[in-house]
Amino acid sequence: MPADTLTITDNRTGKTYEIAIKDETIKAVDLRQIKTDAEDFGLMTYDPAYMNTASCKSRITFIDGDKGILNYRGYPIDQLADDGNYLETAYLLWHGELPNAAQLAEFTTSINANLSLPDSFDNFYNGWGRDAHPMSMLMAGYAGLASIYTDSKKVLDAESRKKQIFRGIAQSMTLGAYGYRFRKSLPFIKPDPSLSFAGNFLYMLFGKEADPRLVRAVDILFILHADHEQNCSTSTMRLVGSSQADPFSSLAAAAAALYGPLHGGANEAVLKMLRQIGSVDNIPGFIEKVKAGEGRLMGFGHRVYKNYDPRARIIKQAAEDVFEVTGKNPLLDVASELEKIALHDEYFIKRKLYPNVDFYSGLIYEALGFPAEMFTVLFAIPRASGWLSQWEEMICDEDQKIGRPRQIFLGEGKRDYVPLANRG
Ligand code: CMC
Repeated sequence: MPADTLTITDNRTGKTYEIAIKDETIKAVDLRQIKTDAEDFGLMTYDPAYMNTASCKSRITFIDGDKGILNYRGYPIDQLADDGNYLETAYLLWHGELPNAAQLAEFTTSINANLSLPDSFDNFYNGWGRDAHPMSMLMAGYAGLASIYTDSKKVLDAESRKKQIFRGIAQSMTLGAYGYRFRKSLPFIKPDPSLSFAGNFLYMLFGKEADPRLVRAVDILFILHADHEQNCSTSTMRLVGSSQADPFSSLAAAAAALYGPLHGGANEAVLKMLRQIGSVDNIPGFIEKVKAGEGRLMGFGHRVYKNYDPRARIIKQAAEDVFEVTGKNPLLDVASELEKIALHDEYFIKRKLYPNVDFYSGLIYEALGFPAEMFTVLFAIPRASGWLSQWEEMICDEDQKIGRPRQIFLGEGKRDYVPLANRG
């Protein structure tokens, strides 16, 4: 059996090094021994956008992007979406196993007990304009919780972390619902602990109990969005958390990362794009513009999936179920035709660009009565359970230290300060 090592010859010096391979990975710091002389810093890797760098070891979510596989703690996403619910998914992500009935009941009770925002939040919304973006309010809401829950600074205390994780999962939903109500100038509705998590959310938004088929659709969307391993926002959660900042400050940072249109903001961008295209007749012209580099086909492509995003397939089915209740979203025809054309076009085939989770989710959200600005909040609410599970794993991981990448410095060497009067 050949050794699990990599032999590297440095042609600058002729020296040979043997580097250990573990879990199909070499440690970047093992390259530091490769030097031209004793003064040399040693070899680094250059990986902007982390295209091929594992930043952590994790046991939470597995993705095989080539095969279109997504598992939470080993359970395939389609099985969880078919038979599970969001709160047991949140429990699974956090604790590593599905809860039994007693554990789920206790977990649900604890989440419900934490749904209400602290009293001092009553004035939080007063300073905002009614047109404030709900993601701005969510980010600020997390930051506000950080200053109210001062015990959340005890990040090395397991009991304190547990308390904050319940608060974070539960109050993400309440912050989302209140942001919506505030924008509509409607009074806030207190959570009803007798309802399911998704049912409560719809109740707190719209003031009445929703059709169970719509509650189920939202629950499925929450399951699908709960975690997605080391993406931009989750890596942000871990990076900020690695400084031992409290989890609410880390959530604010993670939500900021999610907000961008290349990440969770894509669902809002998809709907705007579909509206702009307007009708099936305009699709060929739009595709030609994308191929010419004038903008992207939002909701298509993924850093990891080079196959159909398994979440997009489930969402497409959920969309059909929702439209049975709400009536069809007229933009569905544009989306379906756009998908069909793109999947047969050489540009998209060659680059392995398939619909991602955001391509159809916006159509459901719109049919449920949400304005496009709320879409990324709907992504963030369930993702809070993934962010917090990843944060807990990071805090408990002995390999983790404060995150601190290196750089390749290409700027000026040392030079002397020139007084203002002497500058040309
Ligand atoms: N439309 C048109 N061309 C695209 C698209 C797209 N949506 N995505 C990638 N490409 C092209 C890109 O121009 C490049 O072409 P070339 O090789 O000729 O330069 C090639 O495909 C590779 O693209 P890339 O930007 O190097 O790929 P990436 O892995 O850095 O980007 C991505 C991944 C998701 C940011 C990108 O596919 C994208 O911008 N998609 C649209 C935004 C979107 O839907 N984001 C949601 C992602 S899923 C939800 C989440 O988890 O965040």
